[in-house]
Amino acid sequence: MTDHAGPPPSLNLNVRGMHPSATVAINEHSNALIAAGHAVYKLGLGQSPFPVPPSVVESLRQHAHRKEYMAVRGLPELRAAVAEFHRRRAGLRHGYQAEDVLVAPGSKELMFIAQLAFYGDLLLPAPSWVSYSPQARIIGRQVNFLPTSLEDRWMLRPDTLDAHCRRDRGRPRVLILNYPSNPTGQTFSRDELEVLAAVAREHQLIVISDEIYGELHHTGAHGSIAEFYPEGTILSAGLSKWCGAGGWRLGTFLFPPQLRWLRDAMTAVASETYTTTSAPIQCAAVTAFACGPEIDDYLVHARDILRALGTWSSEKLVAAGARCHRPEGGFYLFPDFSGHAQRLQARGIADGDALCARLLAETGVAILPGSDFGRPKGDWTARLAYVDFDGERALAEHARDATVDEAWLRRVTPRVTTALDRMCDWLVRG
Ligand SMILES: Cc1ncc(COP(=O)(O)O)c(C=O)c1O
Repeated sequence: MTDHAGPPPSLNLNVRGMHPSATVAINEHSNALIAAGHAVYKLGLGQSPFPVPPSVVESLRQHAHRKEYMAVRGLPELRAAVAEFHRRRAGLRHGYQAEDVLVAPGSKELMFIAQLAFYGDLLLPAPSWVSYSPQARIIGRQVNFLPTSLEDRWMLRPDTLDAHCRRDRGRPRVLILNYPSNPTGQTFSRDELEVLAAVAREHQLIVISDEIYGELHHTGAHGSIAEFYPEGTILSAGLSKWCGAGGWRLGTFLFPPQLRWLRDAMTAVASETYTTTSAPIQCAAVTAFACGPEIDDYLVHARDILRALGTWSSEKLVAAGARCHRPEGGFYLFPDFSGHAQRLQARGIADGDALCARLLAETGVAILPGSDFGRPKGDWTARLAYVDFDGERALAEHARDATVDEAWLRRVTPRVTTALDRMCDWLVRG
């Protein structure tokens, strides 16, 4: 069964030619280079630099003995805490209850079983997060990428969505909107969400609103499309980003009553696949979602550090001739290097993919090309995750001195500032 020239005939057609997700692959490649003695600046994988808040870690410790299979949909207290969290945080008027919540080992898993349970097309703005489209491919779903532009900060325009949906009216469709965005760090204003909501309602779309970075809006002003289009919106979130707990694997979907049929179908799929989410993690997550002053404080510090570092990094890239927006949330930048295209081509670098490969080889800075996020080949965009720093130390320093200027950043987040120095020097080199 091995030593085949091509794929074995019994390999499912949907997964032929697939590779591990680009973000996972860059992390493994970076670790292999580090193990071989190279200096690598890890701006490839989007992992929160901050520790899990101590009260949440303590809660996990106290619940380590919980070993039972929990309800497929999740621990009732956790589901109640998640519903309350979203009501309070995003100011949702809709009265979400525990029964509207589905808990799973990661929102990625929920996205996957949602696509499995739903029949219809997937609409994705380009660029968007690396895993939505491969998940659709595994299942055999049709994906339609909706174009965006640098001038529109890579955000989906309502008229683009409307024009697409008019082409074949009435077709069942799911739209995934992610804001603050991975890969761009940009987000929608409440006014923009209201207009998009009107288009989604007109075409009866199901919107999966991926708000996993919502709590990391840099000024804490995150709003949700669920406020304007509650009946068609599933709000996706979890512990991975704002609580620094990606490896704990806990994600949540919040459904409106109108989409209970989808919640129920997904619950059935969950019961036949992963069964339930880890019991101790669910218990600790109750503490996280209940929040309180310690977690509020943690978020104030985390947001301010990310805002300052993201702003400094974007300004540095712009000064080096890249086009790059100031980030509004999360921990990503999406620079466009087309202004350097001619000079880079003269150095034998044909496009953004080659740029990322050469940058890693020649400077040790790991970033990902825009093509991994649905941008066309030949494009000069890339995604940079400004997370290679010691988040625990940064929180402590910020609590002592919150004037985060360049000197502070160079002292507390030196790997990111050095990576940006190296990258910008490399770019402008003749
Ligand atoms: C935009 C986006 N959505 C979803 C996820 C998945 O998060 P989880 O850890 O909840 O599976 C990620 C993780 O990188 C992400 O960046």
